[in-house]
Amino acid sequence: MTLPWKLLLLLSIIDRLTDCLDSASYHGPRWRMEPADLFIPIDSIEEEATLTCDAKGTPPPQYRWSLNGTFINLGLDRRRRLSGGNLIIGNLDRYQDVGMYQCMAYNTVGAILSRRARLQFACKLIKMFGVFTQNCIKALV
Ligand SMILES: *[C@@H]1O[C@H](CO)[C@@H](O)[C@H](O)[C@H]1NC(C)=O
Repeated sequence: MTLPWKLLLLLSIIDRLTDCLDSASYHGPRWRMEPADLFIPIDSIEEEATLTCDAKGTPPPQYRWSLNGTFINLGLDRRRRLSGGNLIIGNLDRYQDVGMYQCMAYNTVGAILSRRARLQFACKLIKMFGVFTQNCIKALV
């Protein structure tokens, strides 16, 4: 049996239309939330810091973080982990954790880089022997 040519034409148009709609439903990542600078008081009781990162996209984006331009390998990391796109740093270390963080969100369509966010420990001014000094050492506080 042969289909009338009009029907064939219609079917091929529908076919192309659905192809077109399929590819249109994929979107590269776009920011919902980018990381912000974090200043952590040196005498903070917080043990964890969270750098936020959230993007929308189809398929749902995945995330990677860098510190001072070097990618963080979270697979081998016991202090740092991902929660969604957020980077959670546990057991904060004043020497290892300071610097510029950047988040990358990516999916099969594309990748975007966030703004850079600084993580810094804020020192306290203390008076010692009559002079003000910066106290940046947690153990002394
Ligand atoms: C990142 O860069 C800052 C500024 O140069 C530096 O103070 C910090 O120690 C660096 N952090 C790491 C983990 O290398």
